[in-house]
Amino acid sequence: MSEKFQIIPRSYELVERGTHALARIIAFVNQSGGAGKTTSVVNVGACAAEYGFKTLIIGLDAQCDASVFCGYEPQDMPQQATLYDVLLGVAEFEDTIVPALAGKYGDSATKPIENLFIALESPDLEDAEQILGPKTGREFWLRGLIERVRDQFDLILIDCPGNLGLLVVNAICASEEVAGAVKPGWKELRALTRIEQKIDQITSTFAGVKARLAHVLVVDAPTSRSQGAVYDDSKREVAAAYEQELLPMVRRSPRIPEAYAARKALRFFDRAGEATQDYFEVTKALGFTRLKR
Ligand SMILES: Nc1ncnc2c1ncn2[C@@H]1O[C@H](COP(=O)(O)OP(=O)(O)OP(=O)(O)O)[C@@H](O)[C@H]1O
Ligand SMILES: [Mg+2]
Repeated sequence: MSEKFQIIPRSYELVERGTHALARIIAFVNQSGGAGKTTSVVNVGACAAEYGFKTLIIGLDAQCDASVFCGYEPQDMPQQATLYDVLLGVAEFEDTIVPALAGKYGDSATKPIENLFIALESPDLEDAEQILGPKTGREFWLRGLIERVRDQFDLILIDCPGNLGLLVVNAICASEEVAGAVKPGWKELRALTRIEQKIDQITSTFAGVKARLAHVLVVDAPTSRSQGAVYDDSKREVAAAYEQELLPMVRRSPRIPEAYAARKALRFFDRAGEATQDYFEVTKALGFTRLKR
């Protein structure tokens, strides 16, 4: 097995530290696919970075959507270390961390996003559960990795796959705050209960885990009445059930899938757009407001 390494020059130690002694760690979770986790992680990360917070995105999904949104196509970069290589023991976690980009890696117009970094995923993470399964301390693999870099960042955002498997258990064990991302709807709301149950199960099994469902983020909220009364009802329901945890909602916007296709966080793709402004509001509500220098 050959060693993997970082092909993009490391830059994160060179960036000026923000205000936190240790990064806040927030895992975006929902067992169903297409709930808005990746969109939220990348765009909250990009907004927090603009406000001056040094932010690390950790992509935990074999679909690699967070890596792609940040400009990278890990399967086309066979030399570049990914989290899968860390799992296999052929790369260091630090080597998977690269600057997040606005645009595709390799395009001449592409620029690194100041203060924003990503630990790259790999399609091979499909096998992660089988590899992690027999390991001692398998639930704490990610926590151990994060401990190594936590004092280098202000904020660490974990983009989970759409299930409640072992990688997501790792993300929950590594975080103090879990954010449930949901699209409005009855079925979607039930997902939050399952997430809460899973967190309870984990915190009652492992004494050192402090995670709680601290935030609920409703994305893809319909912007007009004609888009459905059922949605209005379910929005009211989520507001009642999760009054404390509810973040400002992110409105539905066709610019979001377009931004993903362009590999650009919304603040670069659609600066004045409604969804862009919504993500700035979410970021502020999470406590990341512009740093005064
Ligand atoms: N506010 C929004 N308006 C319109 N489309 C949205 C919005 N938020 C997310 N989407 C779209 O919904 C789809 C799913 O979003 P996303 O990939 O962020 O979900 P996910 O929870 O990460 O999914 P998975 O579980 O597959 O990783 C994407 O095509 C995305 O562009
Ligand atoms: Mg995703």
